[in-house]
Amino acid sequence: MHDSRETLLRNAFVTGCPVKHSRSPLIHGHWLSVLGLQGSYTRQEVTPEDFAGFISRLKSGESGFVGGNVTIPHKETAFRLADRPDALSEELGAANTLWLEDGVLHATNTDGYGFLANLDATAPGWNKTDRAVILGAGGASRAIIQAVRDRGVGEIHVVNRTAARAQELADRFGMKVHAHSMGALPEVMKEAGLFVNTTSLGMDGEEAPVFDFSPLADGAVVTDIVYVPLITPILAQAVQQGFAVVDGLGMLLHQAAPGFEKWFGVRPTVDDALRRIILADM
Ligand code: ATR
Repeated sequence: MHDSRETLLRNAFVTGCPVKHSRSPLIHGHWLSVLGLQGSYTRQEVTPEDFAGFISRLKSGESGFVGGNVTIPHKETAFRLADRPDALSEELGAANTLWLEDGVLHATNTDGYGFLANLDATAPGWNKTDRAVILGAGGASRAIIQAVRDRGVGEIHVVNRTAARAQELADRFGMKVHAHSMGALPEVMKEAGLFVNTTSLGMDGEEAPVFDFSPLADGAVVTDIVYVPLITPILAQAVQQGFAVVDGLGMLLHQAAPGFEKWFGVRPTVDDALRRIILADM
């Protein structure tokens, strides 16, 4: 006879290469435990050569997973191999969350949701000026541009060391998005209500250049998706110059919630206890 609990046991994963630094197991493990759910969330290191096989075993049910998160370098391939990518992942060409429903593999991208949910929770009313400046033009920048655009911000300025990459994003997203090289920062910051760093500048003790945030609008919010250290050199400068700041840890926590709900059936809460658990691990 089957143990009745067996039917409730759901297993999810985070896959990447490497994946050992991922903090997602701590987040989902905390939620499973506080919600008293039977389930697991484990790291699955999969090389690019093995990734198609991993997805095929996921689809067939052989691996026993109900879905999972996907991180570097598999986000684009995950999107391509999914049976039913949603409109968000379709526009980005990348997925970070997969789930099975009746044998059909669905995909979405929750990075933009995580970014906005974190801003909304920490700096409600942030969208005051209709102008945002986004530093960087990689995958994270792309998801954040999409989210900020979908929230209705009218002018989005992407500033990047390699201006051609910023231009690619502007071309992809259309009229609201403008591309610039780094030299344009003082000009595009004028009266902007939101400044986002999506680059690795200032990560893990690395130095960041000096930023003069004074052209930003009064009450502007400066945020960084880097969360090690929690107060990055960019955020520290913004605080010193009198601006409100939002750290990047909340984005990591919030982007995890939609996947958890898909796999385990309950929408989890992002709270201080969870923040403390991740901070204690840093
Ligand atoms: P992700 O997917 O995390 O966004 P990515 O695609 O590697 O990562 O993009 C990294 C971003 O950080 C890019 O915008 C990169 O600028 P380039 O396009 O010019 O490479 C930016 N970046 C990384 N190191 C930087 C540095 N030292 N100075 C300025 N920008 C930097």
